[in-house]
Amino acid sequence: MAKEEKSGNETNKKIVSLDIGSSKIGVFIGEILENGKVRILGFGNPVMKKGDDNELEATVNALKKAVVDAELSSGVDVKEVYVGIAGSSVRSLVSRARIPLRDFEGVVTKEAMNRVVEQTSQMVQYPADLDIIHVLPGDYSIDDREGIKNPLGMEGASLSVETLLVMAPRGIIRTIHKAVESAGLVVKGLVLEQLADACCVLYKDEKELGVAIVDIGATSTDIAVFKDDKVVYTSSFNEAGNSITNDIAYGLTTPIESAEEIKKEHGTCFRSNLLDDSKFTVPGIGGRSGKECSTKHLAYIIYCQIYNILMKVRADLEAQNFLNKKKKTENENPEEKGVFNGKDDVVKNLGAGIVITGGTAQLKGILELAEQIFDDVEVRLGAPQKNESGFSEILSMPLYSTGVGLLNYAAQNEQPRGKRETQTTKIVSAVGSKWKRFSSWIGQYI
Ligand SMILES: Nc1ncnc2c1ncn2[C@@H]1O[C@H](COP(=O)(O)OP(=O)(O)OP(=O)(O)O)[C@@H](O)[C@H]1O
Ligand SMILES: [Mg+2]
Repeated sequence: MAKEEKSGNETNKKIVSLDIGSSKIGVFIGEILENGKVRILGFGNPVMKKGDDNELEATVNALKKAVVDAELSSGVDVKEVYVGIAGSSVRSLVSRARIPLRDFEGVVTKEAMNRVVEQTSQMVQYPADLDIIHVLPGDYSIDDREGIKNPLGMEGASLSVETLLVMAPRGIIRTIHKAVESAGLVVKGLVLEQLADACCVLYKDEKELGVAIVDIGATSTDIAVFKDDKVVYTSSFNEAGNSITNDIAYGLTTPIESAEEIKKEHGTCFRSNLLDDSKFTVPGIGGRSGKECSTKHLAYIIYCQIYNILMKVRADLEAQNFLNKKKKTENENPEEKGVFNGKDDVVKNLGAGIVITGGTAQLKGILELAEQIFDDVEVRLGAPQKNESGFSEILSMPLYSTGVGLLNYAAQNEQPRGKRETQTTKIVSAVGSKWKRFSSWIGQYI
C-alpha cells in the first residue's frame, strides 16, 4: 500500500490507543470518519518479554516496538495516546449531590449540570492516594421528578444527580505516564478498560436492557455493568488466564511457556467437549525428559481454575443484586448436571445478560461453562465488531477488545460535545492538586 493510502484521508483526525496488558502491549492507530466511526489504519502488538528487565523497562521496550510497528503499518506518526487502565486497584463508588437552581433562575443550564456533577466528587471521602479518572453521570432529578436523562432547559427549584466515580492509585497513573513518556509519547486520556471494551463489543440495546461485560485477560478479570445505557458498577479481581497457565505448569510439571502453549493448543475447560481422550507430550523442566498427558486431565486442571473465576464473577454480581442468589445443590457435579438448582426467579437487572471478552474468552469451552454458571441469563462471547479497516479479521478477536475499544472511546471523546453518544466523563491527562484536577475537566461534561 502506498504511504498516502495507508495514512488515511489527510483531513480526518487521527487517534491512537494504547492497551498496556500484562501479556502484551497494543498500539492502535485510527482515523475518525465523517460519520463518527473509526477506521483502523495500523497497529503494533508485541508480546511483553519480562526476562531480565525490570517491569517498567520491559513495558517501555515493548511500547517502543509497538509504536514502530503501528507507525510502519499505518504511515502515521504517533504522539498523543489514549491509554487503558484496569485491575483490582481501580475502585468505583456511587455518589449523589443536589444543588438549588436559584443561581440559574430556576432553569437547568450546562453550568448547573456541571456544578451538580462536580459536587458529587466532593460528597464522598476517598483515600488521598487515589485520583478520580471518570465521573459517570447517571440520571438527574429536578425536585421530586426522577429519572431524567438530559434535563437541559427544564425548570424547577433543585437539581440532583447520581454519579459513579472511578478512581485509580496515583502511583499507577504516574507509572503509566512515565512509561508512555519514556517512549516519546504523551498521555491524552486515561480510560477504564471495561468502558473501552464496551465501546466495541456491546450493542446499545444490550446497554439499555442491562448487561455485564467481563474482560478476562492474563492477570485480571475486569467487570462493568451497564443499565439504561449508563455504567452503574465496575469491579475487578486479580485472577485470569495466567492463573490457569500457572496451574497447568504446576500440575504437569512443565515450564510456564510450555504450559501457555499447551493451554492454547490442547486446552478446553469443558470435558464433554472431548470426544476421545487423546494424548500430547509435555516438555519436562530442568532438562528432564518430556512425558505424555491426557487431554481429559488437562481439561480438569483448566476447568477448576476457570470455574473459580466465573464463580467469583457470579458472586460479585449477586452481591450487587444484579443476579439472583442461587443455592448450590450438595453432591452435585456441576460440570455434568448444571451448576445450580436454586429457585428460578426472574432476573430483572441483567436483561441482556453477560458478555465475556479478553484473551481468556478464546479458551475452548468457556461459553458452555459460562452458560451453566450463569444459567439464569443470556451469555455470549464478545469481540470487536467488524470495522472499516483492512484489519477487521485479525482484530475481531476478544484479546483486541480493549485496544480497538479505546479507539472508539477516543473518537467519541474527540467529537464535538453535542454529538457524543457515550456518557461524558472526566479523562485524566495529568496529575495535579485536587482542585486543579477538577477544574481541568469540569468543562468537559456537556
Ligand atoms: N486460545 C486461547 N486459549 C486459552 N487462553 C488464551 C487463548 N488465547 C489467549 N489466551 C489467554 O489470554 C490471556 C491474555 O489475554 P489478554 O491479551 O486479554 O490479556 P492482557 O490484556 O495482556 O492482560 P490483563 O488485561 O490481565 O492485564 C493469556 O492468559 C492467554 O493465555
Ligand atoms: Mg487486558
